[in-house]
Amino acid sequence: MTTLGTPFSPSATRVMLLGSGELGKEVLIALQRLGVETIAVDRYQNAPGQQVAHHARTITMSDPEQLKALIEAERPHLVVPEIEAIATPMLEQLEAAGTVTVIPTARAARLTMDREGIRRLAAETLGLPTSPYKFCDSLQELQAAIDAGIGYPCIVKPVMSSSGKGQSKIDGPADVQKAWDYAMAGGRVSHGRVIVEGFIDFDYEITQLTVRAKGANGDTETHFCEPIGHVQVSGDYVESWQPMAMRPEAIQKSRQIAKAVTDNLGGLGLFGVELFVKGEQVWFSEVSPRPHDTGLVTLCTQHQSEFELHARAILGLPVDTSLRNPGASAVIYGGVDAQGIVFDGVDDALRVPGTDLRLFGKPESFVRRRMGVALARAADTDTARANAKLAASKVKPRQA
Ligand SMILES: Nc1ncnc2c1ncn2[C@@H]1O[C@H](COP(=O)(O)OP(=O)(O)OP(=O)(O)O)[C@@H](O)[C@H]1O
Ligand SMILES: [Mg+2]
Repeated sequence: MTTLGTPFSPSATRVMLLGSGELGKEVLIALQRLGVETIAVDRYQNAPGQQVAHHARTITMSDPEQLKALIEAERPHLVVPEIEAIATPMLEQLEAAGTVTVIPTARAARLTMDREGIRRLAAETLGLPTSPYKFCDSLQELQAAIDAGIGYPCIVKPVMSSSGKGQSKIDGPADVQKAWDYAMAGGRVSHGRVIVEGFIDFDYEITQLTVRAKGANGDTETHFCEPIGHVQVSGDYVESWQPMAMRPEAIQKSRQIAKAVTDNLGGLGLFGVELFVKGEQVWFSEVSPRPHDTGLVTLCTQHQSEFELHARAILGLPVDTSLRNPGASAVIYGGVDAQGIVFDGVDDALRVPGTDLRLFGKPESFVRRRMGVALARAADTDTARANAKLAASKVKPRQA
């Protein structure tokens, strides 16, 4: 039996989000609706999620001492990582000491915070199909790995980075030095390690949202959402749609891979499993043990969005992953470097049939920062994609 309490009272069910961006904001809203007392943590003030939570805290989450002090002071029932750059070994310590429950598990947060932990788990421990890869600590090692079998074209990524930062494709020997330098400049923590991956010439890529939730008998059950198709530009998602039309064999393989990875990571919650598909072949790419940016589309396609699914699953509640209607999302970038920007054309955007918007409320805009998303539902995904892109194009961010 799950019992929920009342915020601001001794009975409160208290949940702390580590990272409070646009994805965390939606998880927080879903938790608020269930009367959960929420604590939104981020590295800067007035982060999107902090604007909708009961409590806002600003710390450096990669600093183990700051993280420990905050968790011990707040004593939340659940700690929910929303970003990768967290002092995850400290979360493991606190979880082992029984101080907190980490979602889905502290181990999952640690393994997925850099590319090495999750790739070695998927390819070497679980034997799942992935691109050929090698980890390198110098330009010389990178060149040697390419020459010894990775070959061209290939992709170089800092071990610690997301949203395509520091990532580039190498088409031939002339690009190697440039890719190495770019990775060194773009990594989150400059510890000089990269992964080089053979380039997979996929037909399309998907996110397989997978939920581990408690069933009626108390056992953990695995639920799958309809596949989400998406387009990435420079390693960052620009549009997504659901459902992605797939051959049954490819759907089956995708779900088998998703099940294997999420079974191993364990715990409760929603995962975004990233997969490459070519015909019937499916490769594992990576996994987020939390809602996925491409899953923003579920705000307009599913009875329960990925954020509601995550909120329910982590609280031990039942979930419904069914699709309501096809739909699409299109990202709205800042386009300017400025604080406190305004958005023109919101009315025009919302006149596009079947559309909705999320403006994240980020205090500072950058040219390539994701500031909002347009959503469109339609009878088919082609119409939804066209309408989402049209609506996104009508929103014009500018300096105030
Ligand atoms: N080995 C590969 N072969 C072909 N394309 C790839 C390969 N690796 C990555 N890509 C492309 O680059 C995109 C981003 O890669 P990846 O997901 O590893 O980076 P990321 O920085 O973690 O991005 P995000 O945080 O947005 O998920 C992929 O979605 C895919 O489009
Ligand atoms: Mg990715």
